[in-house]
Amino acid sequence: MEEKLSSVAKNFTPSPIQELSHLAQRCNAINLAEGFPDFPAPLQIKDVAVSAINSDFNQYRHVQGICDHLAAAMKKMHDLDVNPLTDIAICCGQTEAFAAAIFAVIDTGDEVVLFDPSYETYEGCITMAGGVPVYVALDPPQWTFCPGKLLKSFTGRTKAIVLNSPHNPTGKVFSKEELEVIAEACCRWDCLAITDEVYEHITFNDKKHISLASLPGMQKRTIITSSLSKTFSVTGWRIGWAIAPAFAASAIRNIHVKITDSAPAPFQEAALTALTSPPEYFEGLKKEYEFKRDFIAKVLTSIGFQIHFKPQGSIFLFAELPKDCLLSDVEYVKELIKEAGVVAVPGCGFFHKKLSMEPLSEASCNYQKRYVRFAFCKSIATLAAAAQKLSDLKNATRYEHS
Ligand SMILES: Cc1ncc(COP(=O)(O)O)c(C=O)c1O
Repeated sequence: MEEKLSSVAKNFTPSPIQELSHLAQRCNAINLAEGFPDFPAPLQIKDVAVSAINSDFNQYRHVQGICDHLAAAMKKMHDLDVNPLTDIAICCGQTEAFAAAIFAVIDTGDEVVLFDPSYETYEGCITMAGGVPVYVALDPPQWTFCPGKLLKSFTGRTKAIVLNSPHNPTGKVFSKEELEVIAEACCRWDCLAITDEVYEHITFNDKKHISLASLPGMQKRTIITSSLSKTFSVTGWRIGWAIAPAFAASAIRNIHVKITDSAPAPFQEAALTALTSPPEYFEGLKKEYEFKRDFIAKVLTSIGFQIHFKPQGSIFLFAELPKDCLLSDVEYVKELIKEAGVVAVPGCGFFHKKLSMEPLSEASCNYQKRYVRFAFCKSIATLAAAAQKLSDLKNATRYEHS
């Protein structure tokens, strides 16, 4: 009966990240692959969730207070005027908000511009909606893009651009100047922008997250998606949102209601508390992750990884394989699991060969097999254990690079 599956289902395979995570579990390896914390969520928000369950918040629910807080936060962070009654849809994580946004605006044949490398779920949603992904390279080692190439990747068929900043997998935070180029392209071609801002509160040093929606002419054409997942270490709670002009927010809400009806009721209650956390919480989050970024960067450098670009935000470090390493990223990660008991993600899963301006030849896309993504959203104990295993590995004879 397998032939009864839809063509979409036939084309989808399990995410390589999930597969590696399962392998890591089977091998009892330290998981630096998936982007979820292994440390507890803040006590005060857990208490609210528990108390909501005990108070029988068990039914379908829309907590308007979340929208009110988000609207106030958008004003404070980005000087955006958001109507909490019409411009926000609460969804099950950024993942559902993004999918609903794509289904709200993409018709068969519509082109969607994305940067390469990119987070793997975007393409799946776009193709499910019948859209055509068009990739523009972020060039290593600094992950910059060529403004000319970006502008040329827009056509009369372009419906939207997807922007993820702070960026998974590179940790890049797009600068004001880069956002201006993207905004110019959107305005010139009268396109929408769908942003993924899940790492909005995780930026390092003097880097500040700027929402594309805050640039002139952009709010009316931007759908912001984000969530509680990363900021509050609750990826399993599935609370996220889309913030958009009323026409788009209403379409997203309609789609959300048909797919999941509402986000988990007790966790919506807890979200209210989370979103009103004091400024010290957000400062502490940045500092803690900055420390962990520096820690993992030092460990990886000491075993030969080349770190040309230190993450400016997010919870990932995208490191280039040691110069003398002849293994591909996939081979390296398999060795890492077997020999060191540590799992990370081969970078090739984030790259695409069909870039809009110049389909890459085998030789010119060699860099796509040279990166490994390490998630540092782990406890210090986990990171220290991984550091120990990696330095043991460095000395192992079977693991010579050449
Ligand atoms: C860039 C990016 N967007 C979205 C998500 C998932 O967000 P959520 O848990 O809110 O669905 C992730 C998780 O790793 C991510 O890295």
